[in-house]
Amino acid sequence: MVERETWATRVGFLVAAIGSAVGLGNLWQFPFKTAANGGAAFVVFYLIAVTLIGFPALLAEFVVGRRTHRNVVDSFAELGGPAWRVVGAMGMVTGFWILSYYDVVGGWVLRYILGSATGAYFDDPGAYLSAVASGPEAIAAQAVFLAIAVGIVAMGIEDGIEKATKVMVPSIVVLMLALGAWALTLGGAADGLAYFLSPDVGSLVENAGTVIPDAVGQAFFTLSLGMGIMVTYASYVGEDDSLPVDGGVIVVSNTLIGVLAGVVVFPILFAEGIGPADSGPTALFEAMAAAFATLPAGRLLGVVFFGVVALAALSSAISLLEVAVSYATDNTDASRSTLALGAGAILFVLGLPSALDTGDPGGFSAWFVWFDAIAYNLLLPLSVLLVVVFVGWVLGRDAVAELRAGSTASGGLAMVWLWTVRLVVLLGIVATLALGFESLFL
Ligand code: PFF
Ligand code: NA
Repeated sequence: MVERETWATRVGFLVAAIGSAVGLGNLWQFPFKTAANGGAAFVVFYLIAVTLIGFPALLAEFVVGRRTHRNVVDSFAELGGPAWRVVGAMGMVTGFWILSYYDVVGGWVLRYILGSATGAYFDDPGAYLSAVASGPEAIAAQAVFLAIAVGIVAMGIEDGIEKATKVMVPSIVVLMLALGAWALTLGGAADGLAYFLSPDVGSLVENAGTVIPDAVGQAFFTLSLGMGIMVTYASYVGEDDSLPVDGGVIVVSNTLIGVLAGVVVFPILFAEGIGPADSGPTALFEAMAAAFATLPAGRLLGVVFFGVVALAALSSAISLLEVAVSYATDNTDASRSTLALGAGAILFVLGLPSALDTGDPGGFSAWFVWFDAIAYNLLLPLSVLLVVVFVGWVLGRDAVAELRAGSTASGGLAMVWLWTVRLVVLLGIVATLALGFESLFL
C-alpha cells in the first residue's frame, strides 16, 4: 500500500470541499426549486434544513473521515466493526447512483459551451436540445466530461484535486459575481428577483408535505452528504484543523453561491420574457439558451455562463470519483490512474440509460426524473440517517473528542452538536423519509 496523501494546505481542503458542494445542485436545482416552492418562504425552510440538519450532519461525516484517515467503507468498519461497512457502502452506492445521471448533464453543459461559442442553438434552442440531450451526442459528451474528471483525480489529492479546485472555485465565484452584477442591470431584474424571492406562504403551507422533504433532500445533495464524499475528503485532513470552522465556511459559501445563482438566472429569463415554469432536468438549458440567443453578446455570455456551470459540475464529479478511488487505493496496489480510469469506465456505463433517455413526448427524460426522485427521497436521506445513527449513538463521546481536536469549541458546544445529531437530525431525516416515501409511492 502506498503512503496516504494529505491536502497540502487547509485552504486546499476548503476549496476542494466547496468545489464539491457547489454544483448543479446550486446553479440549477436550487433556483428552480425555490421558484417552484414558494420563493423566499422555501429559502427560509431550506436555511433551517441546512443549519439544523445539514451542518451537523456534515460535521458527523468529517469526524468519521478524520478520525480514521481511511476511505469511507473501511473507516466505518475500523470505528464500529465490520458490520458498519454497510454505511460506507451505502454512501458509495448513493454517490454512483447520482453521478450516473449527473455526468450526463455535465456532458450537456460542455456541449452548450460549444453551442454558445458557435451560436449553434441560436436559431432553434428546442431542436438543439433534442439533438444533443440524448443519443450518440449525449454519450460522447458524457465521455468527455468523465475523462476530464478522471484526469484530475488520476493526478492525486495534492497535485490533482487540490490544484484544480484552487483554480476552479475562485473562477466560479468571480464569474458568478460578474454575471450577477450584469444580470441586475437588465430590464427583467426586478421582476426576476421578485419571482425568485417573494415569499408565497400560502403555497408553502399547502405543499408542506413535499416542501419539507425537498428542502432536506436539497440540503443533503447540495452539501454532498450521504455519498461518502465529505468522509473521504476529511480523511486527508490533519488534527490541527478546526472541523466546525471549516464546516461553517463550506456551508455559508455554498448557500451564498446558490442565492447568487438565482440572482443570475431569473433576471436573464425575465429580461427575455421566458417563463421559468418548467423545473425539469432540461429547464436550465432550454430557457437559458433561449435567452442567450436573443441577448446582445449572447455568445460570450453563453460561454461564460455554461463555463461556470461546467466548472461547478466538474469539481463535484471529481469529489465523487475520489470516493471510489480512495477506497480502491487503500485496498489494492493498482496505480491511482488505473483506478480512476476504472471508476470512470463504470460510471460511463451506468450513465448510458440517462444518456439514451429520450423520454416520452409528454415528459422529457423519464429516467432522469426517476433517478433523481429516488436519490432525493430515498437514497440520500437513508444514507445520511445511517451515518448519523452511527456517529451519534455508536461513536458518541469519541465523536465529540474528534470534533474538538484542533478547534476551540467548548465541550458544552460540542455536546450540543452531539445531541443535535442524536435527536434533531435523526428525527428530521425520519420525517423526511416518511414524507418522501409518501410522495414516491402513495
Ligand atoms: N453538491 C453537489 C451539487 O450540489 O451539485 C452534489 C454532487 C453531485 C456532488 C454529484 C458530487 C457528484 F458527483
Ligand atoms: Na462543484
